[in-house]
Amino acid sequence: MPRLRTSAEWIIYFRANNAAWEHIPWERGAEISLDAVLPLLRSLQAWQLGETSEARRLKAAARRHAEATGDLDFITAMDLFILEEQRHGESIGRWLDAVGAERIRRDWGDSLFRLFRHARPDIEVWTTVVVVIEVLAVVYYSSVRRAIPSPLLKAVCGQILRDEIPHLEFQSERLARIYRGRSAWRMRLTSAIQHALFAGITLVVWMAHRRMFVAGGHSFATYWRQASQQMRLARLRMRTETTRRATTQRELKAEPPSRLEGWLH
Ligand SMILES: [Fe+2]
Ligand SMILES: [Fe+2]
Repeated sequence: MPRLRTSAEWIIYFRANNAAWEHIPWERGAEISLDAVLPLLRSLQAWQLGETSEARRLKAAARRHAEATGDLDFITAMDLFILEEQRHGESIGRWLDAVGAERIRRDWGDSLFRLFRHARPDIEVWTTVVVVIEVLAVVYYSSVRRAIPSPLLKAVCGQILRDEIPHLEFQSERLARIYRGRSAWRMRLTSAIQHALFAGITLVVWMAHRRMFVAGGHSFATYWRQASQQMRLARLRMRTETTRRATTQRELKAEPPSRLEGWLH
């Protein structure tokens, strides 16, 4: 199990990744008609809206956390992370433009999330929710790749998937830092809350995006299984150094491949 990376290391990673973004063949156009994607359009439009958020409240929570812990580089690392998410939103938006669909400004899922943001969650709650959403994003974008036969969209989703796996690591490692020194019973409580959040969000996302998951070849059972498997990996990464023993290595090895290759076909 690799050690936790510092915020400075994450800044280097995000800058390098930004420079290495794959060429997206925009000149090809969507190569699919609007009619052909109509049944799946609403899902993609809603997801795109979610990715474009300015994330002012998340940034504010990151700043409070950075100042409280003295890890000021975390502010920049979080800014770069958010930029990458916005780039995902922009790329999906450009694809919607190419196919002739509009970019929406309102959606019930987004409004629900807005309510959550207004509750001023602290960085731990934020990060936990973001981890669950990242887990589901991986399942979602790999479904989009299978559901919509547009080479351009496949290229966009491929790049997004390449970014999302490190995102999961970035957020999970932050939780590992936050959990440092937490007593065993508090960790059990934390883990119970995390399971409940995962179950709740995973259900809501299934209800909102069922069509896309089904078109991507999923049943509820396979969707749940993939999301749970990815969440389990994220949980292994949330362990603090003291609990990152050899067993963790074995557990990671025992997990079926969840790396990128698995998501890209
Ligand atoms: Fe994203
Ligand atoms: Fe992400």
